[in-house]
Amino acid sequence: MISLTKATHPLKGDVFVPGDKSISHRSIMFGALAEGTTEVTGFLNSADCLSTIDCFRKLGVLIDHTIRPSNGVPTITIHGRGLHNFKIPTDTLYTGNSGTTTRLMSGILAAQPFDSIITGDSSIEKRPMKRIITPLNQMGADVSSVMGNDCAPLRIRGGKNLTGITYRNPVASAQVKSCILLAGLYAEGDSVVYEPALSRNHTETMLSAFGADIHNEVSRNGSAVAILHPGIPLHGIKINVPGDISSAAYFIAAALIVPGSELLIRNVGINPTRSGILTVLKQMGADITLLNVNDSSEPSADILVKHSSLHCNENGKFEIGGKDIPTMIDELPIVAAIAAANNFDTIIKDASELKVKESNRIDSVVENLKAMGCDIEATEDGMIIHGGNPLHGADINSHNDHRLAMSFAIAALSAEGTTRILDDNCVGISYPSFFKDLQALL
Ligand code: S3P
Repeated sequence: MISLTKATHPLKGDVFVPGDKSISHRSIMFGALAEGTTEVTGFLNSADCLSTIDCFRKLGVLIDHTIRPSNGVPTITIHGRGLHNFKIPTDTLYTGNSGTTTRLMSGILAAQPFDSIITGDSSIEKRPMKRIITPLNQMGADVSSVMGNDCAPLRIRGGKNLTGITYRNPVASAQVKSCILLAGLYAEGDSVVYEPALSRNHTETMLSAFGADIHNEVSRNGSAVAILHPGIPLHGIKINVPGDISSAAYFIAAALIVPGSELLIRNVGINPTRSGILTVLKQMGADITLLNVNDSSEPSADILVKHSSLHCNENGKFEIGGKDIPTMIDELPIVAAIAAANNFDTIIKDASELKVKESNRIDSVVENLKAMGCDIEATEDGMIIHGGNPLHGADINSHNDHRLAMSFAIAALSAEGTTRILDDNCVGISYPSFFKDLQALL
């Protein structure tokens, strides 16, 4: 349990957040599928990404994991086995709390010549897997839910010849898209995934760097398609993982909430499919400047953020929805915490995907912000936060959801009294040094 109280002085200085979680997972996966070695610097050393390493080791992939003594930066070398040379796992593949590992690996496993079982912790075993079972089986795979409830454990029978599909995903989900594309690497013919808005495109940008023939197209109305022509072997590359904007979001919020603050968050990934939080906060009047922009396929920048008083639109409220949602899906809990510290109404809509994250993030955010005195209501596809009530400390039930624990640690900085985060260990899923890094600013 961790106790926090209202910030007593402005937060100032430089912050370094750990590596991007989505890119770290994919570095291991694509490095394993490639021929030759892949070297990764800035890898996120957190429980979720370690689950990915563990699963690929069970498939016979040699992965060296060292911490550079000079600067403590983790360096990973993956000795790829190519698409067709994995070892038969002797054990269930255990993905811990990681939805990305579970869903993306299932796409790879569906195309192997051997059978496997994949599952994770109690949260993973409640998350919907039908969204990947259906398209994988349409490709000719044999994937089923062991308990018959469309959740993990998944039994994946190997030895199937896959065929590329054109799949129209009703929701924008990078995990579903990536699962299909990874199976598509092994399929006969193209794999084409349509989605209503472009979800994070790290799979497309990174697989392309590994040599695959893959690209995105985005139409004028915002809907998107990813197209993969299979048949080209992947080759190992060097990857420099930028800081995770989802982790940076907590410090952006802290600077905006605590009067007089000014933080420079170094080397953060700003891929446009991930940086919706910057767009939306700037529309609210946040003083955010990007410095040292590095324009590559996975762009990064230093983010300078100064305390700002935020504002709504002329209609007296601020609405967040539509194609912005996939670009900030993991940041909605911290956006809700920022909104609770404002004095206008914020409406989050088109975000029913929040219900199927590590916790039901509509219910868990509403429950905990209510406990802090916020006037907030859950809706079918989001929430309405009536800003203006001063927040007070409370006991926070994070439901073992890392993003909840971190969001409420930041909300505590504007609340009178003491806030206790009851199950704080879950931050290790994506940001093990979060409380230490936060404490250094307080
Ligand atoms: C992720 C995709 C998103 C996101 C998750 C990481 C990824 O999930 O919420 O934290 O790395 O592909 P969905 O694909 O379910 O939206």
